[in-house]
Amino acid sequence: MRSHYCGAVRATDIGNTITLCGWAHRRRDHGGVIFIDLRDREGTVQVVIDPDTPESFKIAEDVRSEFVLKVVGKVRARPAGTENANLPTGMIEVLTQQLEVLNPSLTPPFQIDDENLSENIRLQYRYLDLRRPAMQANMMLRYRVSKLMRDYLDQSGFIEVETPMLTRSTPEGARDYLVPSRVHDGMFYALPQSPQLFKQLLMVAGYDRYFQITKCFRDEDLRADRQPEFTQVDLETSFMGEEEIMTLVEGMIRDMFQKAQDIDLPNPFPRMSYGEAMHRYGSDKPDMRVTLEIAEASDAMKDVAFKVFSGPANDPAGRVAALRIPGGATLTRGEIDGYTEFVKIYGAKGLAYIKVNDVSQLNETGLQSPIVKNLNEAALKMVMERTGAQNGDLIFFGADKAKVVNDALGALRLKIGHEKGHVDGRAWAPLWVVDFPMFEYNEDEKRWDALHHPFTAPKDGHEDYLATDPGKALSKAYDMVLNGWEVGGGSVRIHRQDVQEKVFEALNISEEERRNKFGFLLDALQFGAPPHGGLAFGLDRLVTLMTGAESIRDVIAFPKTQRASCLMTDAPNQVDEKQLRELHIRLRNTTPNPAA
Ligand code: AMO
Ligand code: AMP
Repeated sequence: MRSHYCGAVRATDIGNTITLCGWAHRRRDHGGVIFIDLRDREGTVQVVIDPDTPESFKIAEDVRSEFVLKVVGKVRARPAGTENANLPTGMIEVLTQQLEVLNPSLTPPFQIDDENLSENIRLQYRYLDLRRPAMQANMMLRYRVSKLMRDYLDQSGFIEVETPMLTRSTPEGARDYLVPSRVHDGMFYALPQSPQLFKQLLMVAGYDRYFQITKCFRDEDLRADRQPEFTQVDLETSFMGEEEIMTLVEGMIRDMFQKAQDIDLPNPFPRMSYGEAMHRYGSDKPDMRVTLEIAEASDAMKDVAFKVFSGPANDPAGRVAALRIPGGATLTRGEIDGYTEFVKIYGAKGLAYIKVNDVSQLNETGLQSPIVKNLNEAALKMVMERTGAQNGDLIFFGADKAKVVNDALGALRLKIGHEKGHVDGRAWAPLWVVDFPMFEYNEDEKRWDALHHPFTAPKDGHEDYLATDPGKALSKAYDMVLNGWEVGGGSVRIHRQDVQEKVFEALNISEEERRNKFGFLLDALQFGAPPHGGLAFGLDRLVTLMTGAESIRDVIAFPKTQRASCLMTDAPNQVDEKQLRELHIRLRNTTPNPAA
């Protein structure tokens, strides 16, 4: 129907007669001449309709926003002084010879170029929201990113294999989405939380290098970087160790950034152990652009009179830590109160602080704070040295279970770092986090849980800790972190039955539960499983970072809300009685009881 995309017409087309199809982005009536900005996927172009073509002119008078038009016209230079250097089509316009309305449109609920829309209205009319040039650019980048990764993997000898969507529960640790079976009364499929078990089976089957760009489903509490269904670039290889896998996928990400956005990421990516990341940044996905650091204060606070500090300092599961804010003495009372409220989200009970007026006087004159009188000079000296405090700084303290302190100070570090400009100016800060512990202790359940999944291999030489000291065992797991987001994670897997048994024992998973949950994988491991390992990237997160969007919803064509619903299709929805009966399901009374 058309000869050119609207956004692709250039000065080199001047003098040619072309045919365009697109949407009326804006129409301006300039007494006697009508201008329409015609928009398609590639951009907009200015179309001019003058009264010399009376038929077209009459049609143009009735054109409204979002009408679908076909224009035959001649490209000409814009009159001197009316060019727009900011637009790729800004040097030219198209003088209409023939205008046709292919389809009118209702008045849209919002202007396509309105930047200040509520997300709810955008999600309800997603097909209109997706017309917005910014969203189209996001979707095109997303396509390009997945194409580049697919090409890279293809060239590296990986083949794409599809794995089932209707399956059994997979071990990623989130809640499953279940699908009732019609054929098997009372039974359910689970949607995959990842293709983890299947990709390991493909290694057992000898496929050597597998990848898949696929949907994963996790019923978890949603945040800006989480969706109930999201896309992984998932891969697995045989006969490669940690180093080779990390080098390979790092190369893929560098190549992709280079080709998609002409961005050169560092080579190689820096690495940091999990232990160091938690200690210095309170997070296993530190944003390395933020220059603030957390300092250890547990040892300094063991003997102080301030019980809020000495308690956690003497608790093996506790931590006292300090966060120095250079120049922070200028923070107002209101700001400090705000931060104190902020850390409560993470379970912190308070946010003690010291304003450093004169670091040479370790008393209430040099250090301004209600807690100073309850801390002895030795403790204060240690904190000042550890944090590198200077006059004019402020030091925040967290004291609690280590997890609360790390979560609270880790989040505060990011908040103050970005708000107050304690950043190093780098646009991109990739990082590998390595040497994860195999297990983390679950205080509530009084047992060890797998930090990744139970098929993650222990580091060489750490197999014996599995039985003797599980907390000490490190794993061959690695996470790729970019600007504070976990964009990918993986590990070398256990390929031997005897090691797998030890891990299950450490996790206290009964024989019966092992058989029931992963019997097929355990069987397969005994039929000549090769050494293997892999990783999965969160495609949505990678693209979100590359676009600079706030939320992964902005790079997903049809995302769900924070409450896991789709405002456009109204999913999830009630189904009719007959469907339920076929599925052997009877609903309990779900209508809220007004009396309750
Ligand atoms: P993991 O659970 O770390 O590993 O997931 C891999 C990557 O997927 C992304 N991701 C998400 N993105 C959006 N919404 C979510 N709800 C969500 N959950 C995870 C993250 C994460 O780094 N089978 C293992 C991989 C392996 O060991 O090979 C796995 O799924 O970017
Ligand atoms: P209080 O003695 O309870 O008045 O607290 C004195 C200071 O310690 C206040 O600034 C509190 O915000 C802070 N504080 C209380 N509990 C904690 C905690 N667990 N970690 C860090 N600071 C705390």
